[in-house]
Amino acid sequence: MKMNLPPLLLVDDERNMRLTLETIMAGRGYEVRSAESAEEALKLLGQNEFFMVITDARLGGISGYELLKTVRTRWPNVPVLMITAYATPKLAVDAIKSGAIDYLAKPFEPDELVHAVGRCAERHRLLQENAALRARAGELYGLDEIIGESAKMKSLRQLIQTVAPTNATVLILGESGTGKELIAGALHCLSQRRNQNYIRINCAAIPETLLESELFGHERGAFTGAMRQKAGRVEEADEGTIFLDEIGDMSRPLQAKLLRFLEDGTFTRVGGNQELKVDVRLIAATNRDIIQAISQNHFREDLFHRLNVVQFQPPPLRERGADILLLAEHFLKHFRVSMNKPVKGISPVAQQKLQAHHWPGNVRELRNAMERAVILELSPEIQTDSLPDFHLETRLRKPDANALGGQTPLEERLANYERDLIVNILEQNHYNLTKSAEQLKISRHALRYRMQRLNVVAADNLDEDNANAPLKQPGA
Ligand SMILES: Nc1ncnc2c1ncn2[C@@H]1O[C@H](COP(=O)(O)OP(=O)(O)OP(=O)(O)O)[C@@H](O)[C@H]1O
Ligand SMILES: [Mg+2]
Repeated sequence: MKMNLPPLLLVDDERNMRLTLETIMAGRGYEVRSAESAEEALKLLGQNEFFMVITDARLGGISGYELLKTVRTRWPNVPVLMITAYATPKLAVDAIKSGAIDYLAKPFEPDELVHAVGRCAERHRLLQENAALRARAGELYGLDEIIGESAKMKSLRQLIQTVAPTNATVLILGESGTGKELIAGALHCLSQRRNQNYIRINCAAIPETLLESELFGHERGAFTGAMRQKAGRVEEADEGTIFLDEIGDMSRPLQAKLLRFLEDGTFTRVGGNQELKVDVRLIAATNRDIIQAISQNHFREDLFHRLNVVQFQPPPLRERGADILLLAEHFLKHFRVSMNKPVKGISPVAQQKLQAHHWPGNVRELRNAMERAVILELSPEIQTDSLPDFHLETRLRKPDANALGGQTPLEERLANYERDLIVNILEQNHYNLTKSAEQLKISRHALRYRMQRLNVVAADNLDEDNANAPLKQPGA
């Protein structure tokens, strides 16, 4: 694949300096764009890709140093070369400390500049190559990475194995944090396309106006800011797989274009009229209620059917029973090693707490909870105190589920309230069912029934007298 070098961005408030530098760099074959202030530079950086920024340290308005800092945080892969007025060691140190890749002190020889820019161009090329290599290697997604011994997770892994080698379009529907990306990655890695590119696009993260040109590319001059022709990601994905994440967020006009693309792999770049064709396998995912989106006319029904050749529905974590503990142990091991902390296990009461939680953020939430617990825990076993205050977090995540203004149905609101209440009482009583039932003035049996109905998971051997007894090993 040909790798074009994007332009470099030159920032200087002195017109003569800009012209001189532009001439030098253009003479060496670089495409140059200039800005006379940091403000203008930031605007350009927001609209276009640049392989590097050269800025004078002293600018009217925002200074070169401030510009440098902003670029470091917002576009960490774009190196910044600083030009300072006099060679004082302090200024040089400041520039490098703030993250400049290099600095030049005025006056400098054109060759010094050319060399510095050459190094950045080389760096850009290497980064691009690395990214392409990584994309081809598909990273390390495999079935082994998908932890879970519940029936649903086992059949999910089975389905991945069956569907991966085919060219079938796949639609993955599941709540946030249920492992949709993991499934998509495994489908690619277990397919014949594994040695080709695996391109991921998050449709919700790219502004609607840019998504089409990101996907299908654009011709030079197709819109303001389209300085060069750009190939679409679908071209990069040729012979490989493209994963469209958060497809529920795609605009309807683009949905129509995607539908056409799915029919036969043809598309035209934005502003172009030549029909191009690629061979791409498509995997799409969303955490939205797609049926509701269709009924509200936000999502095209025909596109849904076209995508929905094979459907995956990773279940919410709360429906995976003992997998909660299996995953908790998995993440515990991971963080114990990476943080080098001697936390060996999870105390029985903490296990109860993990199992009773509703996990609105699913596996991602569990992973974060375990990371935090390993950081905070001072004893050899994770204790409840190191786990988050789940009631608070659940309320934060669902701020208006029970608010008066919301649209949530009564049944769901009542269930939310009941679930919060029961989990609260259980925790107060250290997960002792009998005591909790007494406090609620219902039978132990009735409490169990309600917990099941509300998906409040209890350990199998949750016992009236000894909630502290070690739990059965999950999956055993
Ligand atoms: N079954 C699993 N085994 C091990 N790790 C998992 C599993 N499911 C999810 N994870 C981990 O949980 C985190 C969230 O998973 P992932 O990003 O795939 O979720 P998602 O469904 O794409 O969420 P979102 O809708 O928010 O994008 C990741 O760190 C992932 O590795
Ligand atoms: Mg995701």
